Amino acid sequence: MLDQQHKRRIDDLFEAMKAANESFLGYPFAKGFNYESLWRFLTVSGNNFGDPFGSQSYRVNSRLLECEVIKFFAQLFRAAPSETWGYVTSGGTEGNTYGLYLGREVFPDGVAYFSSDTHSSVSKAVRLLRLEHVVVQAGRTGEIDYDDLARQASRFRHRPAIVVANIGTTMKEGKDDVSKVRQALHGAGLEEIYVHSDAALCGPYAPFQIPRTPFDFLDGVDSIVLSGHKFFGAPVPCGIVLTRKKHVQQVLRTSNYVDVTLSGSRSAYTPIVLWYAIRKLGIEGIKHTFEQCEGLAGYAVDQLRTRGTNAWRNPSALTVVLPPVEERLGAKWQIMTQDVSRVVVTPGTTKKQIDALVEALTIDR
Ligand SMILES: Cc1ncc(COP(=O)(O)O)c(C=O)c1O
Repeated sequence: MLDQQHKRRIDDLFEAMKAANESFLGYPFAKGFNYESLWRFLTVSGNNFGDPFGSQSYRVNSRLLECEVIKFFAQLFRAAPSETWGYVTSGGTEGNTYGLYLGREVFPDGVAYFSSDTHSSVSKAVRLLRLEHVVVQAGRTGEIDYDDLARQASRFRHRPAIVVANIGTTMKEGKDDVSKVRQALHGAGLEEIYVHSDAALCGPYAPFQIPRTPFDFLDGVDSIVLSGHKFFGAPVPCGIVLTRKKHVQQVLRTSNYVDVTLSGSRSAYTPIVLWYAIRKLGIEGIKHTFEQCEGLAGYAVDQLRTRGTNAWRNPSALTVVLPPVEERLGAKWQIMTQDVSRVVVTPGTTKKQIDALVEALTIDR
């Protein structure tokens, strides 16, 4: 039992986190999913270490459900489940690191390319992996500049390319078209290309966006990451990385590992949360939830523009881009600001919250 003082600290912390959870609009984390029926899994010391598709003597695990999650997303991302491998990660950063690691194993002499709007996890990963890399210009919408990519790659035309394509940049939800990325590199004379999609943000709904930006296995990528705590609002950070099985087999052949995941111990809880989310929603539910958010994001932009704020968003994006907001308002709504500010209309965001935000942002005009 905790003594009174420590019990109070825990209670106070919970109240503070709950209140903060009610009032943020600036982060891409969904609210309102109810995973309460899964709390009982926190009473066991679950651990999914190792390859979810391999065998394991430790039976306090949820690998069966983890494999179903991988197969579900393999199908959503138009890969043959039998040719696809993956696992549930600790988040997008681990997935991006894993994608780049596989790229480097496939092409040890490769040069990495990614745009200046790419998430910092990619810069971290190339440093960790000691991958030579080039930062390519991004346009106003956050999309990579294909001409600059071709220009930069032509300097290294005799070396393979390992490209991170953004399927939703952090600040503007800009997307890099994987077909155009490949075209640009072929045009520059490169043949050996590995493409990793960072779909941390848009992965669950990118298949339903109109216009659809090429980003998945049928479009020619080698690995994809998506986040579990963003669109699906998992209460514990997590992600899913998927790749072509042949790449993992190559790593196994050239190393003496028995485990091809990056981390050692892995959560048994987060795969259950993700399994629950996809089984509850199904494909139709994911699409419908996305469409509701998308409608509300469009409404937010219309309202802000009508009232004189220069808000905008990429086609069918859930991220509303704003001129940098005042510090006081940024703190109140937990809005992240770099060169621009952003609000993300995730599942669980209400019209009432958007109206209140619009009011607060435009009250002095
Ligand atoms: C586009 C993108 N990729 C990767 C990440 C890293 O994900 P995580 O925070 O789950 O490690 C983020 C985080 O916000 C992101 O926006």
